[in-house]
Amino acid sequence: MSAHANSLSDHAYRQLVHLVYKHSRIRIGQDKQLMLANRLRRRVQLLGMDSLDDYASFLTTSRDENELEELVDMLSTNHTHFYREGDHFAFLTQTALPELLPGLKLTGAPLRIWSAASSSGEEPYTLAVVLADYLLAHVGVDWKILASDVSNRMLERGRQAVYRMESVAPVPTELLQRYFLRGVDAWEGICRVGPELRRRVQFDRINLFQPVYPISAPQHVIFCRNVMIYFDLESRALAVERMVRHLVPGGYLIIGYSESLMGIDHGLQQVQQGVFRLP
Ligand SMILES: C[S@@+](CC[C@H](N)C(=O)[O-])C[C@H]1O[C@@H](n2cnc3c(N)ncnc32)[C@H](O)[C@@H]1O
Repeated sequence: MSAHANSLSDHAYRQLVHLVYKHSRIRIGQDKQLMLANRLRRRVQLLGMDSLDDYASFLTTSRDENELEELVDMLSTNHTHFYREGDHFAFLTQTALPELLPGLKLTGAPLRIWSAASSSGEEPYTLAVVLADYLLAHVGVDWKILASDVSNRMLERGRQAVYRMESVAPVPTELLQRYFLRGVDAWEGICRVGPELRRRVQFDRINLFQPVYPISAPQHVIFCRNVMIYFDLESRALAVERMVRHLVPGGYLIIGYSESLMGIDHGLQQVQQGVFRLP
């Protein structure tokens, strides 16, 4: 690509920002033109297009769904880690599970937890470790985790369940030994979540703004953390309204430490920072 083709015109930038918003409600700030150009350059080359502007106008006219998914995938922020914002996992074992389990034991229904912006899997696998450990003392309670994200690339990483040893450092040693497989020889320095936990976690693509979520059973707890921060108020309200439809009465919605539901008419009771209960 020539120097000109390598950069993004203001018009093409606005087109791309608009498309990303329409597709995912992610708001890209005004100062991100260079970041956008840097992230998209390789894709444009791969597609054999002449310039970033051609790419923007192709997407605007074709509205090609697959390429829109790719675009959002390239621009979303996926930062995450094991045991991130640990109070929420403590809340689960100290409050939510003791409250929810008696009912589940009576009916025999599985406990269902949904990680609604699961990124590369650290959040749902933290949930899996915490649940497996807690439920050792409650034999017979079945449980499932749904992990979803808009990014296919992240979902694939979650399904692989392979992490560097530094990444799993927050996992308590005993649980690491029990639930992870440690790489040896060529795999030294990495580990994989063991099959016992992997089979409990189902990764599916869900865009929080698609009209219908393909979720058949109601969830007991929804973790939707560190994603709404990228949405405007109207979009946050829409996502919360749709997620809450999938919560059992008495179930919990948990959002990130730096997020808020202020200004949203959600009908939930706030229990503690970032934790909301459906009455
Ligand atoms: C910063 S990560 C948060 C990961 C994890 N929940 C945590 O707190 O560590 C945000 C994730 O939200 C996803 N995301 C962004 N927009 C989304 C949307 N409209 N629907 C579903 N997921 C979305 C991104 O792909 C990204 O993986």
